[in-house]
Order: sequence, then structure tokens, then C-alpha cells
Amino acid sequence: MFLSKKILKSTLKLNNFQRNMSLIKNKAYINGKWTSALNNETFNVLNPVDKSIIGSVPDMNCDDVNLAINSATEAFKTFSKTTAKERSDLLRSWYNLMVKNSEELANILTQENGKSLAESRAEIKYGNSFVEWFSEETRRINGEILQEPMRNRKLMILKQPIGPVALITPWNFPHAMITRKVGAAIAAGCTCVIKPSEDTPLTALALAKLAEDAGFPPGVMNFITTNLNNSPQIGKLLCEDKNIRAISFTGSTAVGKILYQQSASTMKRLSLELGGNAPFIVFESANIDLAVGGAMQCKFRNTGQTCVSANRFFVHNSRFDEFLQKFVDKISQDIKMGDGKKNNITHGPLIKQSQIDMIDHLVIDAINKGAKLHCGGKKLSDLGPLFYAPTVLTEVNRDMEIYHREIFGPVAVIHKFNDENDVLNEANSVNVGLAGYFYSEDLSQIFRVANKMEVGMIGANEGLISCAEAAFGGVKESGIGREGSKHGVDDFLDIKYLCIGNIKY
Ligand code: SIN
Repeated sequence: MFLSKKILKSTLKLNNFQRNMSLIKNKAYINGKWTSALNNETFNVLNPVDKSIIGSVPDMNCDDVNLAINSATEAFKTFSKTTAKERSDLLRSWYNLMVKNSEELANILTQENGKSLAESRAEIKYGNSFVEWFSEETRRINGEILQEPMRNRKLMILKQPIGPVALITPWNFPHAMITRKVGAAIAAGCTCVIKPSEDTPLTALALAKLAEDAGFPPGVMNFITTNLNNSPQIGKLLCEDKNIRAISFTGSTAVGKILYQQSASTMKRLSLELGGNAPFIVFESANIDLAVGGAMQCKFRNTGQTCVSANRFFVHNSRFDEFLQKFVDKISQDIKMGDGKKNNITHGPLIKQSQIDMIDHLVIDAINKGAKLHCGGKKLSDLGPLFYAPTVLTEVNRDMEIYHREIFGPVAVIHKFNDENDVLNEANSVNVGLAGYFYSEDLSQIFRVANKMEVGMIGANEGLISCAEAAFGGVKESGIGREGSKHGVDDFLDIKYLCIGNIKY
């Protein structure tokens, strides 16, 4: 049999890639075993730099997922009885292995997500920190002893793991979004079924391999892989299965709403980290160099494909020209797009065709309706099929689609404002509220604005606010619950009230 030139090229790439990567797996992980789909179907994982094939993984359907649910349910019977110290030790071993294998994890991440190696290394460090954090937090999940209203009673609040849980994670942070959820679930004593995005399953399976090496018992972490076609049925199954007691999902608000509805039949606990539309306000007193630095981090992290990315810039009239000029200059100085595994590259491509088509459409629509383009505004096809130039637009108005959308790409839209109340009204006028940013040197204004901004997270004079210590999550349609911080375990715990009566003193 003859292989076409294209397939032969991909196969060679796959071999070169895999030769250097001991953590690359081509099977899912259920009940402590590396597993193919029951029907043996697979799908390819592509490198967004050139759409070449870098691996293939099982294309699982509901039959496979039922096995994973059974495995997590069975494992919960014993894992829920482990001590916090035992869970802490397991998480610590997993963390140590992640640290040891950071470079390989970063390489896998860059290959399947496209972000630059520098960004992947930062994500691995960030993702690892959640496992370290929850290895510590697990030992502080304490109940309470209450003041009893009657002398012969003792009242207590116990905290118990909620049960087996399903964790559904996105492609934009394939490592950190898993560790932020799994770390908390394991700390609470839950077992998990983990479904990574179809675009980035290899990072997830590398984490499964390290969990196996760390000594997690079979069934405690089950990783299922599936292509987009099967995802809706699998999501529904996870929501409607009575053994799965909680769903934690990071992704779009549209999908979050579907999962919310589907979970009603089983009254499942939901933790939803959904879309944002972050305002980034530069007030009159702002330090403009600081604001430009923050804008660069905040807007272009992961080539703009971040749910806490600045989506709407508002700059005070008196500082507008200065900010715009410095921002555009900084973009041309600091951003070097290309294949993320090359050393000098800062930013990679977008993840897939639908993403770049959407960005291109939004920019063309805005320009056709009168927006002013200051840089970018085009695909960079000579770099690869999914590269889009960092773009700055002004004079954007409500008639343009981009005004109303979470952009999720390297496009900054900058508006002018004059009045604090007006800009806050505008910032709060959307139905989501994940993150918000502002720059001001006026202390009263900092407290006033932070108080009034309708978001779950605020960066005041700071453009990059994520860390394991932070309570990550949004208000309004940006979701429910908090991840990271001491609150991250709450969604995986049941509170049980215990009243011991008739005590004879
Ligand atoms: C996200 O974009 O979903 C997460 C970003 C972060 O954790 O900072």
C-alpha cells in the first residue's frame, strides 16, 4: 500500500515528535488502564501551526463514558474514606512529577495548542501550582462545632466529598484548567471523569500518565477522549447520570447554559466558568506605561484566546492618543508570531479554522462599517493557515458585531470616554461579568470603581491576575462557583449537619 505524500509527512512528524516524548499517549485512561474506544474509533490531533497530525486518540462515545462513570463510582467507595494526609501526599507526588516533567509538558502543550513555548512554560507553572495548592488545602477542609441552644446537645457541621464528579475542560489552557478542577476535587475526596477538549487531549493524557506514576488508585481519575461529534451526547450523559454528583465546566456561556438545563433532572451541583467581556479602563490619572504593559499581557495572552482577556478598552479622552500610540508601538516591538516551538516566538496561531474565520469576519465587518484600523487587520497566511495579526481598532460603534461579542482573538477595540459614571455604566451594560481591569493613580477612585464594577475578578493597575490563591469565577452569565483559593473545594463538598442529643452530663 502506498501512502500519500501528505500522510507520509505527517507520519514522519508523528514519529519524530513521539520519539522525544515519553508522555505522549494514544489511549484514554479508565479504571487505571490505558484504553481504546470500545468501537476502536480514533481521531487525529492537529498542530495549529500547520494543521499537521501530531497524534491520534480514542474517539469515545457514551458506552465508553459509562465505563468511566462506573469506574469513578466504584473507586469513590474507598477513595472517599482516605485521610486528608493521604490525599495530600498523592497530590504532592503528582505535583512533583509535573515539575520534573515541566519541559515535556510544555512541548506537548505547544504542539497541540499552538501557544509559544514561553507561554506554555508559564501555563505549566501556573497549572502545577493548583496541584501544589490543593495538596495543602486538603488538610484544612475542616468542619465546625456549633454553639448548642440546649445543654444536652452537641451540634456539628461535617464536610464530606460530594461523590464522583465530571470535569469538562477547554482547549485554551489544556493543563491549568484540568489541574484547577482535579486538584480541588481530589482534595475534597471525590473521584473524577475528566473530558478534555477534542482539540487538546494530549496534555490531558500526559497528566493522566503522571497521575498513574504518582500512585493514584485505579478509577480515581478517569480521562476520556472524544471528538466534537460525540461531545453533546457525552455532556448530556454526564449531566443526567445519577452517580455523577457534580459537573465542573469551563467553556462558552452557550454550552454552560445547556449543561445547566440538562443537570436539572438530577439536581447536580454545577460549577461553571464561562465567557467574559472584560472592560479595561484607563482613567485620567493612570500611569500610561503601566497601562500599556497590562494591556499587552491582558489582551494578547494566548493570542487573545483567554476568557479573562480585555475585550473592551475605554481610555479617557485626555490620555487616548498617548495610550493608542504607545500600545500600537509596543505591539510591533514585542509580538513575534510564528511556530511556538521556535525560540524567539512570543505568540502562536489561533486554535482552529472556525476561530480565525470568526475573527476575520468581525474585523472586516467593523472596517466595512467605518471602524479605523491602526495595525493588523489581516490573516498572516505566510506563517500558516491559522495566524492572525495583532489588531487595533478604534471608532467602533454599536452597529458593528465586534462591539457586542467576546472576541477571543488578538484584536483590541478601543473606545474614548469622559466621565467615570458613564464608563462604568457602559462597562456594566453587558450580561456577563468575569474579569475587569482599570488603571488609576487615585486611591478613592480605585475603591469606588472596584466596588461598582459588576465582575467576579478585578485587576486594578494589573493586567494579569490569575494565581492559585485567587478565587477565580464570574457573576451574571459568566458562571457559578469559584475555582482556586480556599473556595475551590466548596463545589465538591456536601455539608452535613449532625445533632447529637440527650447527652447526659
Ligand atoms: C481561561 O481563560 O479560561 C482561564 C484563564 C486563567 O486561568 O487565567
